[in-house]
Amino acid sequence: MELENIRKLFPVVKNKVFLNHAAQSPLPKPVADAMRQYVEDYSNFGASPLEASDLGKSMFARLVGAKPEEIALVENTSVGLNIAANVLRYPPGSKVVTTDLEYPSVVYPWLKSSLGVKVHYVRSVNGKVSLEDIEKAVDDATVAVAVSHVEYVNGFRNDLRAISEIAHRHGAVFIVDAIQSAGVIPIDVKRDNVDFLTSACYKWLLGPAGAAYLYVREDLIEKLEPPYVGWASVKQETFETVAFWDIWSLKLSETASRFEVGTPSTVSFVGAAEAIKLLLNFGIENIEKRVLELTGYLIEKVKALGLQLQTPEEPQHRSGIVNFKIDKPKEAVEHLRRNNIVVSARAHGIRVSPHFYNTEAEIDKLIEETKNWTK
Ligand SMILES: Cc1ncc(COP(=O)(O)O)c(C=O)c1O
Repeated sequence: MELENIRKLFPVVKNKVFLNHAAQSPLPKPVADAMRQYVEDYSNFGASPLEASDLGKSMFARLVGAKPEEIALVENTSVGLNIAANVLRYPPGSKVVTTDLEYPSVVYPWLKSSLGVKVHYVRSVNGKVSLEDIEKAVDDATVAVAVSHVEYVNGFRNDLRAISEIAHRHGAVFIVDAIQSAGVIPIDVKRDNVDFLTSACYKWLLGPAGAAYLYVREDLIEKLEPPYVGWASVKQETFETVAFWDIWSLKLSETASRFEVGTPSTVSFVGAAEAIKLLLNFGIENIEKRVLELTGYLIEKVKALGLQLQTPEEPQHRSGIVNFKIDKPKEAVEHLRRNNIVVSARAHGIRVSPHFYNTEAEIDKLIEETKNWTK
């Protein structure tokens, strides 16, 4: 599809230069339409045919190379990570390995004293975490290694396959927060041997808040007892074949839905499913190629301006996020917002995160206004 036609699916382009998909994304028209339809249906009929689907599970499964049975609906990434943290067992002296570039929710679940596990932070050097340092940190006492596929401040992309190899060599499980990669960078949980992966849909997946998915590797599911249980956690036949709930025993689902508890925010998942469908239609490889083109263009412009990049430039570590240093980043971002350019202030810099429908002309506008600000 021509860029001009792609942009027609994104009403935001009429109002803003939106370069902030690492924060919360504007809804594409088909996504907003599906959600509107659902709301109208509920208002007029008290039901909607849109909820008869699996609420995007099979679509998310396709996106990450998993089976639909390996996907649970959760509220957000933080809940997905908490489930992963709380289904594992931590013998005395055990540890979890993570990095010092992580978003709080990747680390906090293991800092709860009740888990009794030590958190080991692999230190980044110049915004990068080396495999050698991860290798040194992971040992036989390691129960889990937890990282973001793409780190939220500077966009550093971790090598999932290499890290999972290190984790598994020591019998540890590998847990991935994919919220900064899902929708923009191809993911294959089987190729990379990931045990848990979770992502909400309101960033690069272009969906609304309130919908997230958790992948749990098939052969782990039945070994794990969910931290919370409710009607959604049990085998479906429990209520399909009997006239009342079997409340005398707990027969947990053999699929990842054992990690679900109760009624999800259906309207959010209707939007999420539509958004993932849209992205899969364009193809994640195509989206990645286009986004890397745009971020590459931005990197060159930032360097030409003489500003310092905070994003690693090696191709294998690049992503949809570019961060460059600036004085008074908060005020700079406010200045840009007053000029209808939406980005974020992070770590003494400006974080820019374009998606595949953005243009070089929009990057030029950002650069122009940044120049005006630094004058
Ligand atoms: C890496 C990372 N993980 C998690 C989150 C938050 O996830 P959620 O709000 O879905 O719990 C963010 C939000 O910025 C993030 O960047």
